[in-house]
Amino acid sequence: MKSLTITSHLEVYDSLEELPGNLQQLMQQAIKVRDTAYAPYSQFKVGAALLLDNDEVILGSNQENASYPSGLCAERTAVYAAGAKYPEAEIKAIAISAKSMKHQVISPVPPCGACRQALIEYEVKQEKPIGIFFMGESGKVVKANSIKDLLPLVFDNSSL
Ligand code: THU
Repeated sequence: MKSLTITSHLEVYDSLEELPGNLQQLMQQAIKVRDTAYAPYSQFKVGAALLLDNDEVILGSNQENASYPSGLCAERTAVYAAGAKYPEAEIKAIAISAKSMKHQVISPVPPCGACRQALIEYEVKQEKPIGIFFMGESGKVVKANSIKDLLPLVFDNSSL
């Protein structure tokens, strides 16, 4: 028997102002686009802003559906829009902001497993890590330098 220990590196910032200016701006865009979420069922609104290497920013928000599984998270709305609009561009960073209409979201909200899987596909494709930043409403921000820090045992094309 072999035992493996997997480590992930995350950084926690007490406030957005501790981040470099361009990433503060990216998060501000994620916060703003969160208001465009269509979330009548969960009352949980998420905004995502992707920074590309061509300096374009692509935005997304969660879009729900009466047939619940047909809805889509903010992160995948953004990442697929980026893939469709700029198929050759690399994703440098993603900022994610979440807010509930029912209670205060204190802790930073990490992306769901399906969104981590969607994001890692692009990290593998571009052979460069994607920085990820996520927030709730408290001001605290969590940062990881790679999606792999959130999804260490990745399933990708090397398994096929
Ligand atoms: N949601 C996101 O947009 N991103 C995530 O990573 C987690 C969940 C959305 C999906 C659904 O519209 C609502 O939040 C509640 O799950």
